[in-house]
Amino acid sequence: MDLHLDAYDIAYSDIGQEMLRKVGEEVYGEYIGQLSWMTTEEYRRFIARLAPTADSHVLEIGSGNGGAAVYLATTTGARATGLDNNEAGIQRAVALAKEKGLEDRVHFRFGDAMRPLSFADGTFDAIFANDTFSLLPDRIGLLRQCHRVLRPGGRLLFTDPMVLVGIVTSDEIAVRTWAGAACLIPQGENEHLLQLAGFELLSCEDLTESVVTVARRQAAAFEKFRDELINSMGQEICDGLISSTAMAETLADQKRLIRIAYLARKAT
Ligand SMILES: C[S@@+](CC[C@H](N)C(=O)[O-])C[C@H]1O[C@@H](n2cnc3c(N)ncnc32)[C@H](O)[C@@H]1O
Repeated sequence: MDLHLDAYDIAYSDIGQEMLRKVGEEVYGEYIGQLSWMTTEEYRRFIARLAPTADSHVLEIGSGNGGAAVYLATTTGARATGLDNNEAGIQRAVALAKEKGLEDRVHFRFGDAMRPLSFADGTFDAIFANDTFSLLPDRIGLLRQCHRVLRPGGRLLFTDPMVLVGIVTSDEIAVRTWAGAACLIPQGENEHLLQLAGFELLSCEDLTESVVTVARRQAAAFEKFRDELINSMGQEICDGLISSTAMAETLADQKRLIRIAYLARKAT
């Protein structure tokens, strides 16, 4: 199996979602469907920074199974649109919005964020992307698209868990990115690209500690559910999960690969 092609298909399959739920409840306490380093407490802070109201329309890029968009719409009353290039994730997200009775306010669109976004200029009041931009190499193209589809004064918050601040070997990168390709970016470059795309940077928050905490809890959960993981997903995936999570913890703990949340605003 080529995991570089199939990691998200596996994650958003019935078996994958069932395992992620079990692990997620151990890791995040309040599990809202995330497949990332984001704790739910952290997400509440992100939402507060984006400050959506019941009149807002928020775009989430890399919306996965829809858990985060549904949470945002439920807790703020805002409209939400999720964009993801995984068909299984989109189907799951649409079903979740329907299950929660939110299909009028929460929509999901299949699409590639590396292509021009299929939304009109100034459509959104806020854009959110958690642990997704690190998968997308044309960062400046993406940031320009975000700038275009935001209304003047609109906010963008994204996290990047692949900010390089120390020496990392090619072997370490191979283990860390076992589940799929990702881009390393030198510290300062996201700030530079945000400015080039026309954004005003409001804040940068170092969230590397979330990676350490989440990775440690994941390691404990993988141990607890080891037999179930092997039975449902196979030895190869189980081993890959364990070693890539351990590598993420090491690189974050040693502050070689850090995770930053960027909050920016489109000038009025
Ligand atoms: C690490 S997961 C994060 C999911 C979610 N944001 C979270 O915090 O749980 C990255 C998500 O980005 C999506 N993705 C990857 N490449 C993409 C692309 N080119 N366009 C749109 N979505 C993409 C994946 O399908 C996946 O759902």
